Amino acid sequence: MDKVRIGVIGIGGMGTGHAKRLQGGQVPRAELAAVCDIDPKRFKDFPGVKAFESSAELIRSGLVDAVIVATPHYGHTTIGIDALQNGIHTLVEKPISVHKADAERLIAAHTDPKVVFCAMFNQRTDPHFSKMRELVENGTVGKIQRVNWIITTWFRSEAYYRSGGWRATWEGEGGGVLLNQCPHNLDLFQWICGKPTSVYAVGGIGKYHDIEVEDDITAIYEYANGATGVFVTTTGEAPGTNRLEIVGTNGKLVNEGGKLTFTRNEVPADVYCATTEERFGVPGIWNIDIPIKSGGDQHLGIKKNFVNAILDGVPLIAPAEEGIHSVEMANAMIYSCMTGKKVDLPLDGALYEAHLKKLIAESTFQKKTDASANLDLKGSF
Ligand SMILES: NC(=O)c1ccc[n+]([C@@H]2O[C@H](COP(=O)([O-])OP(=O)(O)OC[C@H]3O[C@@H](n4cnc5c(N)ncnc54)[C@H](O)[C@@H]3O)[C@@H](O)[C@H]2O)c1
Repeated sequence: MDKVRIGVIGIGGMGTGHAKRLQGGQVPRAELAAVCDIDPKRFKDFPGVKAFESSAELIRSGLVDAVIVATPHYGHTTIGIDALQNGIHTLVEKPISVHKADAERLIAAHTDPKVVFCAMFNQRTDPHFSKMRELVENGTVGKIQRVNWIITTWFRSEAYYRSGGWRATWEGEGGGVLLNQCPHNLDLFQWICGKPTSVYAVGGIGKYHDIEVEDDITAIYEYANGATGVFVTTTGEAPGTNRLEIVGTNGKLVNEGGKLTFTRNEVPADVYCATTEERFGVPGIWNIDIPIKSGGDQHLGIKKNFVNAILDGVPLIAPAEEGIHSVEMANAMIYSCMTGKKVDLPLDGALYEAHLKKLIAESTFQKKTDASANLDLKGSF
């Protein structure tokens, strides 16, 4: 094979973007071979492209080597499993699944190592985050003591929530800000800092919007090495803040406003603490601006990497298996927020699945939907 024939499943806001990039030749050695949506009105932008109203038919058509699954989240699991079991290379949108037990089912369907299975964690291509990961991993930051991410720049209006019947419902989406906007941040947080051992979250269900899921969360994390973390997010605050701060014994690493800075201790904080005779002294510092030119290739970068993995066997930037971590973190925070309990990790996936099924079964929420909503995702990510 010298060209990957890709089918895009779910031609809504995100799927249309993926399909247009493929059609426009922006992903070398790949072509848009087919599109699929349960709503045939979505095919109008793709005249001449083979269109399917059933993902099962597209997957079995013989027309595609690979699929991109950009349906509402629950479909990532069911359609992803079908594609993988039929030997089709699969790129699923984030989150890879709605809950941990589904993520395990999806991952279990990936049995053939020749089949490439990738997740759309496009923010992993942003060099600010890969640099932070490098500086934590190579010990530059020292022993991690505290990590904070305030990510409240995900403001969303009522019009946004009305734009899709599935959005912000337990049955259609399985969660709110943690399942839709934050999978990127939760993925990066554990990619850079590792996974915590426990989570305690407070916040609000439909606090700022007419929705039945969480739109405001403040969570406290504990890590195995004794470090603590705080994760703050909402879709109801403007102007928002996006500040990721990692404090280690060697200094403080901050990513905010497109700038990555490292305030380095001349003497590690723990060494200074143990050895100085100064009662109110603090270590001297150097301020370091880390030069980073761009925000990375984002969605295009992941699609190119997916194709290169299929054709050349290059390693994936975001193997889909790693997507289970952000799903588990989102589930644990929702569960903690709704029960008032601290949740130890690993989360019991069956317990959370039962919790979600109960929320779906007992829901009396009447979702308002605006069928005329446009699909333009400008300003979404
Ligand atoms: N990576 C990112 O930055 C990013 C950004 C936006 C959305 N997304 C993800 O993309 C997914 C879709 O989001 P969206 O905003 O495009 O939603 P959307 O509602 O605009 O589009 C979803 C489309 O899927 C179709 N669909 C539903 N069930 C289907 C099925 N079984 N088979 C085929 N098509 C089906 C719908 O008819 C609709 O056209 C979500 O999971 C979301 O998290 C990712």
